[in-house]
This record gives sequence, structure tokens and C-alpha cells, in this order.
Amino acid sequence: MDARNQPIGIFDSGLGGLSVLQHLNEQMPLEHYIYVADSANVPYGTKSPEFIVDRAKKICDFLIAQQCKAIVIACNTATAAAAKYLRAHYPLPIIGMEPAVKPAALQTRNKKIGVLATEGTLKSTQFAALLDRFGNDIEVHSQPCHGLPELVEAGEIDTEKTKALLGKYMRPMLDANVDTIVLGCTHYPFLAATINEIAGNQVSLIDTGLAVARHTKDRLAAEELLRLATPILETARFYTSAPSETTNQVISRLWGKESTAQSLPDALM
Ligand code: SIN
Repeated sequence: MDARNQPIGIFDSGLGGLSVLQHLNEQMPLEHYIYVADSANVPYGTKSPEFIVDRAKKICDFLIAQQCKAIVIACNTATAAAAKYLRAHYPLPIIGMEPAVKPAALQTRNKKIGVLATEGTLKSTQFAALLDRFGNDIEVHSQPCHGLPELVEAGEIDTEKTKALLGKYMRPMLDANVDTIVLGCTHYPFLAATINEIAGNQVSLIDTGLAVARHTKDRLAAEELLRLATPILETARFYTSAPSETTNQVISRLWGKESTAQSLPDALM
């Protein structure tokens, strides 16, 4: 197959990466996407970096076996734990996420920002390096948000339970008067309406999905890997390590199209 017509692989601990897939598809509507949700192991945020690297390797091997021409790690925690390893060991373009500390530092008016992310992301050397580079003359209020990815996976996007948990996590940063909040996990853009409701419209939210999609497009263009304008049968194919009716319902709701995820091969289950 012409390398340009091969699919783009995407993976996440679960379904949060669909928020990145939406931006990728908007930026590159001709592409074909293969999405892997490691739903059996969500959340990654509380797992060890070694465990995440092992899962990331297996998922990348699977995506390469599906002939993917590039891989997007649509998960901040997996990027922090595994991007360096994957880039050193795999020959294809590997694009990852990064909490938007830099844009938040540039945008904040009162020099106070909040970061909502997983424990794994906030404890990573990648996050420490971001704070070193861009967080020096601002106050950064970071909050690990245990339980939020699981609520998104269960389709609890706008329930009272989700609102209460978000309210608890956001209270300290709102009391500290942040004017900008970084959505540092790909599950959180699906909670943006509730986060906005709690924060009020004086507080801006920043998500990196669009920037990552633009960067992916630029990278593929630079490597002459953008898909040619030939028709494709389906925009995206989904795989999961924990097939269930709920997973299918949530994919269909978040992707906006009736979809059924296939099981990953045994070695990945
Ligand atoms: C998680 O699996 O804990 C969340 C994924 C992310 O950091 O984007």
C-alpha cells in the first residue's frame, strides 16, 4: 500500500482520546484512523510508568501490524511515561500530548493557573520540566483528579456525581483565584461544559487536542505522509481490551456515530 494511504494509529487508556480523534478528523478528514482503548487498564493515572510502557509497546506493535504510518498517544499519562521510550524504539512518527502549561502561562492575566490532570502526569519528570520552563513567574495550582476517567468511561459526562467530584477538585484552585485552567487529561474535554459551569465564565479552559492535531498534520505533511484524496470505507475503526455494551454506547455518543469496538488480540487482553 502507498504509505500515504496507511491509517493513523491512536491509543489511550480508554475513551478520553476520542477528544483528540475528533480534532484529528477535523484537521485531516481524508485520513483513516485506528483507535485503541486500553479499557481493561483504565485509568493509567495511578499505574506505574513500567506498566504503562509495557502496555504502550504492545499497543504500538498491534498498530504497526495494522500498517499504521504514525501513532498519536492520545493520553497525557501515557505520553509522560512512554513517549521517550517509544520514540527511541519505533521508526514511525510518534506524537504525544503535553499539559498546556505554556499557553496557560502566556494567556493568564493574573498569573494564576490551575492544572487538572492525573497523579501520573503531575508526578512525571515531563511535567516538572514544563513547570521549570514556563511556570516560574506564575502561581500553578495542580490537582490530581482520581476517578474522573472512570466516570467518562461509564458515560457519566454530566451527572450530579461527576459535578460533585469536579466541584471538590476545583474548589482549591478557584479559591486561589486562578483565571485559567489546563485540562491535562484527554478525558476532561468531555467534561468541559460542567467544568465551565463550576468555574464561571471568567475562567478560561485550555485543551491541547487541537494543537496536537495541527502538529500531527504538519509532521505528516513534512514526511509526505498525508493521505491522498481517495475514498475510504470508514473513518475510524475501534479496538478495546475490555469489550462491553457500555464501551460501545459511550464511543457512539462521544464519536457521534454508531460504533462497535472490536476485541484486541489475546496478547493484549
Ligand atoms: C488515565 O487513564 O488516568 C487518564 C488518561 C490521561 O492522562 O489522559
